[in-house]
Amino acid sequence: MAGRQFPVAIIGSGNIGTDLMLKIRRGGGPLTMAAMIGIDPNSDGLARATRLGVPTSSEGVHGLLAMPGFEQIRLVFDATSAEAHVEHWEELRHNGVRVLDLTPAAIGPFCVPVVNLEDHLDAPNLNMVTCGGQATVPVVAAVNRTAPVAYAEIVSSISSKSAGPGTRANIDEFTETTATALEVVGGARRGKAMIVLNPAEPPILMRNTVYCLVEGDCDHAAIESSIAAMIERVRCYVPGYRLAQPVQFETFGPDGPLHIPETGKFIGTRVTTLLQVTGAADYLPAYAGNLDIMTSAALATAKSIAAHSLTNVGG
Ligand SMILES: NC(=O)c1ccc[n+]([C@@H]2O[C@H](COP(=O)([O-])OP(=O)(O)OC[C@H]3O[C@@H](n4cnc5c(N)ncnc54)[C@H](O)[C@@H]3O)[C@@H](O)[C@H]2O)c1
Repeated sequence: MAGRQFPVAIIGSGNIGTDLMLKIRRGGGPLTMAAMIGIDPNSDGLARATRLGVPTSSEGVHGLLAMPGFEQIRLVFDATSAEAHVEHWEELRHNGVRVLDLTPAAIGPFCVPVVNLEDHLDAPNLNMVTCGGQATVPVVAAVNRTAPVAYAEIVSSISSKSAGPGTRANIDEFTETTATALEVVGGARRGKAMIVLNPAEPPILMRNTVYCLVEGDCDHAAIESSIAAMIERVRCYVPGYRLAQPVQFETFGPDGPLHIPETGKFIGTRVTTLLQVTGAADYLPAYAGNLDIMTSAALATAKSIAAHSLTNVGG
C-alpha cells in the first residue's frame, strides 16, 4: 500500500551508502529506495543502484533536488563526509525532508538506538555518531547505569580496506564526535576516542576496546550482567556484535593509583570490555563489521522514524 511506504534517498554511493542501500532493499519496508545520489558517475554504488532499478544521479544534492518525485521522499541518509554534510544540510533543511546523518558532522543530536532512540524521533537532522560510537557507547551506558563512569576511553580498529576516502577525510571528526557521544549519550564524565585503520592482509575484523573508570568500589557481577544485557540488545540489529573475551576488572588503590594526564590520580576500578563485530557481508566481506554497526543502527532508527511519522499522520 503506497500510504504505508516511506520513500528514502541516500547521498554518497561509497562503502557506507552502498551497504545501507542493500540493507534497505532487504529490510522488508516501510522504507523504499527512491534515489541513490553520488558525484562519481563510475562509482560501484551507483552502478549497483542502477542494476537494482533504483533511480540515480551523479550530480550530488542538486541532482537529488531536481529529481522528478523528490517531494515524495520522506528521509535522506547522508553517507558522504562531514564537510559535504554541512552543505547538504543547508540545501535540504528548507525542503521539509528529514535527514539522517551517517557522517560525524554532529549537526543534529546523537542517536545510538539501544540507548536513546525514542528521545529524538522528531529531530529534523539526527546524527548517527560513528561506527566506533555505535559499537562502544552502549557499553559505556551499560556500565554507567550500574556505577557512574568517571572516564571512558575507546579504541576502534577497522580494516583499512573498509574505510573509503570519506572515512579517511573524517579521522579528526571521528575522535571528537565519538568522545562527545561517550559523554552525552554514554554518560561518562569525560570521554576519549581513538581509531586505527589497520592495513593488515587478510583484513582484520572490526575490534573495539572500551575502558571505563569507575570510582570506588563497584559490583562486578552487576556491571557484567548490565553489559551482557546491552550486548544482546545490540545483537538484535547486528547479530555479529559480541564480547571477544570476558569483561575484565582491575582495581587501583591508594597505594597504586592510575595517573591520567588530563584528570590526575584515579582510585577505583577499570572495567575493560573487548568487542568484536562480524559483518553481514551485504556489501564488503564479513571483516567490515564497522559498516554493519553503522548502517544497521541507521536502518533501525529510520524504521522507527517512519513508524512514528506514519502513525502521526494516520498511516
Ligand atoms: N567506512 C566506515 O566504516 C564508516 C562507518 C561509519 C561512518 N562512516 C562515515 O561515513 C562516511 C562515508 O564513509 P565511506 O567509508 O563510505 O566513504 P566512501 O569514500 O567510500 O564514500 C563516500 C561517497 O560519497 C561520495 N561523495 C562525496 N562527496 C559527495 C557529495 N558532495 N555529494 C554526493 N556524493 C558525495 C563519494 O563519491 C563516495 O562515493 C564518512 O563520513 C565516514 O566517516 C564510515
